[in-house]
Amino acid sequence: MNIPDLQRDIERDIASIKTAADLRAVRDRYLSRKSGKISLALKELASASPEDRRTLGQTLNTLKQFAEQELDRAEQALASAPPADAIDVTLPGRTPLVGHRHPLTLLRERVEEIFLRMGFYIAEGPELEDDYHNFEALNMPPEHPARDMQDTLYLATPVPVESGRPATLLRTHTSGMQIRYMESHQPPIRLFAPGRVYRRDGLDLTHSPMFTQVEGLVVDEGITLADLKGTLVTLAHELFGHDRGTRFRPSFFPYTEPSAELDISCAACGGKGCNMCKGSGWIEVLGSGMVHPAVFEAVGYDPERYTGFAFGVGIERLALLKWGIEDIRLFYENDLRFLEQFPL
Ligand code: DAH
Repeated sequence: MNIPDLQRDIERDIASIKTAADLRAVRDRYLSRKSGKISLALKELASASPEDRRTLGQTLNTLKQFAEQELDRAEQALASAPPADAIDVTLPGRTPLVGHRHPLTLLRERVEEIFLRMGFYIAEGPELEDDYHNFEALNMPPEHPARDMQDTLYLATPVPVESGRPATLLRTHTSGMQIRYMESHQPPIRLFAPGRVYRRDGLDLTHSPMFTQVEGLVVDEGITLADLKGTLVTLAHELFGHDRGTRFRPSFFPYTEPSAELDISCAACGGKGCNMCKGSGWIEVLGSGMVHPAVFEAVGYDPERYTGFAFGVGIERLALLKWGIEDIRLFYENDLRFLEQFPL
């Protein structure tokens, strides 16, 4: 009988106990009255010499006590151990991915907020549009050369619309909303109409066949160019900062007279001229003008009584300028490394 070996076996077996069945098996292996290794060893003492019997007997009894103690301890540990499927509350938590709004949405909401504070209200219109609302009522009859300013995506088959003309194209701008709104409302009007627009353009650094516009329209008695300027300069200052310079440059749109584009001073060079502003020191922001009398006539307003101004601005363009982004495609690729940087 090798006592140290026996003790090592006992320790090893007790350490490997994982279940109540293990516990029972180990207890039986060493302590069972009939076949337990310690019990058998004690029985064998009967045939040993009296001296051996005393020393060996003491050692074996100590070992037996040790085994009983350790087994009791293992039993207690088993009883208090959590079940195998218990939750380990000490594990570090998994942080859920928190979504956020797209930069174009953030900017559109920022612009909306500025106009809502100036007393405008929001309306939206259809992306599938008819020729009349997109062009004709905006003083661009068929064959009008100004239609070429925007390359149009036409539908292969016109889409029937419940009330009104069938849609034949994807709207090239939100300006058709001016017509839709005036057809169903009387002045005074302070309309703000955001939405997607489509053009037959390739996708490159600064162009996309689909982008986002915001249309504005103000109509009442006595609206002047001064109202247009005040409103749009306010927008530019609120969005880009009050230290930015602004200027109006004569332009042409068939649905406004006079027409003007709004420029802001280039932030990259402070107005000296650089690549960003193509050397001019100014960057074009939006198109605008005083509503053309022919547009009022198309919706049945009296152009002698009412005047108004309108403007159209690209949200992507504002975003590129505001955040100094050089490639419009970044807005559509949904690369989280880009999107996660907003709001800056
Ligand atoms: N519709 C023009 C465009 O898409 C923008 C625009 C210019 C809108 C002048 C207007 C306006 O309402 O008066 O480029």
